[in-house]
Amino acid sequence: MIQNQVEFRNVSFRYADDQPWVLKNVSFTIKSDEWLAIIGHNGSGKSTIAKLMNGLLFPDQGEVIIQGVKLTEETVWDVRKKVGMVFQNPDNQFVGTTVRDDVAFGLENRGIERDKMIEAIEQGLKAVRMSDYLLHEPHRLSGGQKQRVAIAGVIAVKPDVIILDEATAMLDPKGRKEIIRTVNDLKQSNQLSLITITHDLNEIAQADRVIVMNAGEVWLESKPRDLFAKETALREIGLDVPFVAKLANAIQQHSITLTQQPLNQKELLDELWTYRLNK
Ligand SMILES: Nc1ncnc2c1ncn2[C@@H]1O[C@H](COP(=O)(O)OP(=O)(O)O)[C@@H](O)[C@H]1O
Ligand SMILES: [Mg+2]
Repeated sequence: MIQNQVEFRNVSFRYADDQPWVLKNVSFTIKSDEWLAIIGHNGSGKSTIAKLMNGLLFPDQGEVIIQGVKLTEETVWDVRKKVGMVFQNPDNQFVGTTVRDDVAFGLENRGIERDKMIEAIEQGLKAVRMSDYLLHEPHRLSGGQKQRVAIAGVIAVKPDVIILDEATAMLDPKGRKEIIRTVNDLKQSNQLSLITITHDLNEIAQADRVIVMNAGEVWLESKPRDLFAKETALREIGLDVPFVAKLANAIQQHSITLTQQPLNQKELLDELWTYRLNK
């Protein structure tokens, strides 16, 4: 049983010798079956972390370790089988002329035999509820559908770690929810580690843990609940908390004590009922 799927050990990185450090001494781990959210304002180093995780970049200092193996030029091809990544703009990710060809691409790259490939394509598309679109042209799909196909392509190769780098950023709230539900279902049924890099505060609430990046450093690592209580400190580095958290924090300033920081509307309502009944 592998404990840590991903480990960053004192990782520092800059894009060139004459440029500033983009990541400074970044350390964290991700366990199997864990959902980690990474937040931080633009330029704080989130996408650089994602690229270091599947060997698109290599650290200048420190180590990136995937399932106990240090990521190097030699191990990168094995690591890429384990770590799947979906980016913000699905249009830049399509290579096939049909949805089927597109999902097949990652499998072909891995030399998977035809029967297994057909099965994996079907499974991938089924997981994102796009089975009916097998022969459609990717560029004709809606934004949400494109992103689901991109995710199907990642799922098809059965990685142990899936990274979504602002993969829901271009979608409307409904599309966003759908993607998150899809990957969450997958995580439940396939025991994978999920890393979501996001601006969507509601996505953070569902994660097991959150890392807040600021100016290339890990500013805070905590559970979503604890993070939402730190509204004032977060605001100082230009980040916000969800509306429910704001409401809960404001209520508590009027001497109403909640038993815990609510993560969503339902939890806040439950807290208020409890408060009322105990009064
Ligand atoms: N290819 C690149 N070449 C030089 N600098 C880059 C490159 N990509 C990103 N940067 C710089 O690295 C910093 C971190 O970028 P990035 O990891 O994309 O942050 P985020 O994803 O949090 O917005 C930024 O200052 C950005 O301008
Ligand atoms: Mg980014």
